Amino acid sequence: MTANSQRRVLLAKPRGYCAGVDRAVQAVEIALEKYGAPIYVRKQIVHNVHVVKTLEERGAVFVDETEEVPEGAIVVFSAHGVAPVVHEEAQGLNLRTIDATCPLVTKVHKEAVRFAAQGYDILLIGHEGHEEVIGTTGEAPDHIHLVDGPDDVANVHVRDPEKVAWLSQTTLSVDETIATVEKLRERFPNLTDPPSDDICYATQNRQTAVKEMAARSQLVIVVGSTNSSNSVRLVEVAKEHGADDAYLVDYAEQIDPAWLDGVTTVGVTSGASVPDELVQDVLAWLAERGFGEAEEIESVQESMRFSLPKELRKDLRITP
Ligand code: F3S
Repeated sequence: MTANSQRRVLLAKPRGYCAGVDRAVQAVEIALEKYGAPIYVRKQIVHNVHVVKTLEERGAVFVDETEEVPEGAIVVFSAHGVAPVVHEEAQGLNLRTIDATCPLVTKVHKEAVRFAAQGYDILLIGHEGHEEVIGTTGEAPDHIHLVDGPDDVANVHVRDPEKVAWLSQTTLSVDETIATVEKLRERFPNLTDPPSDDICYATQNRQTAVKEMAARSQLVIVVGSTNSSNSVRLVEVAKEHGADDAYLVDYAEQIDPAWLDGVTTVGVTSGASVPDELVQDVLAWLAERGFGEAEEIESVQESMRFSLPKELRKDLRITP
């Protein structure tokens, strides 16, 4: 047996695009086709540099703030969701909006509104500064307190320790969130849970898949961007579950050949905002270095799909 024949690649499944990302990217593509460029997009439509660059080449204009969009233009809100004040700003500028907020983020917004209306202090587990956290907090700014992981629990101050609920960002580490909730419950024994999991199915499934793969890999390569929360979590989970090393890359060219020294099994996966062509580029790069055919390890079957944003469905005359 040659050294090369011992080298192998394990490919996690599910990986890559989730239903919310697919919908958001399609929303911009369809808007470009139907209304023509430029189509403005507030923030990165999804957290992936390749997706953003490709849409930019087709005529999408990405802006950080609503006020950068010219009066009367079309603006798409990203998959991460926006605070109500952003809708008001858009209305003030007479913008035509297409809201590509993932329905699973909208679900968390609704939970925040409901808990706030019932007088709860809401402990939102999430990462400070992340767009989703900013959007959710905007639904009930006077009621929501951010908890950035288990070590932040001691810093929380609430009005009534008997009336506290928790919610979370959709793209967190499942295990770390359980640890944070346990610590919160030690401080607030009457802590109220959300009606269902806030960490979305795609985040959970990609973490389950990477755990299984990492246990059999020395090196794990995660394709994804550094500002993609769910992609960064996959690197952490891979390291915690058996991989000696795990790295995040946007493109195959960013792989350092030195990472392969002494490695015979490489695991490959990708974040929920990553088109599969980038994973295929990584597989081709590995194949050139003797890591031939990839064995796909399917941990969970996925079939989730979301319908297009309502503004597009209306214009395309699609019934829900
Ligand atoms: Fe939605 Fe989860 Fe994807 S919240 S955008 S399905 S990562």
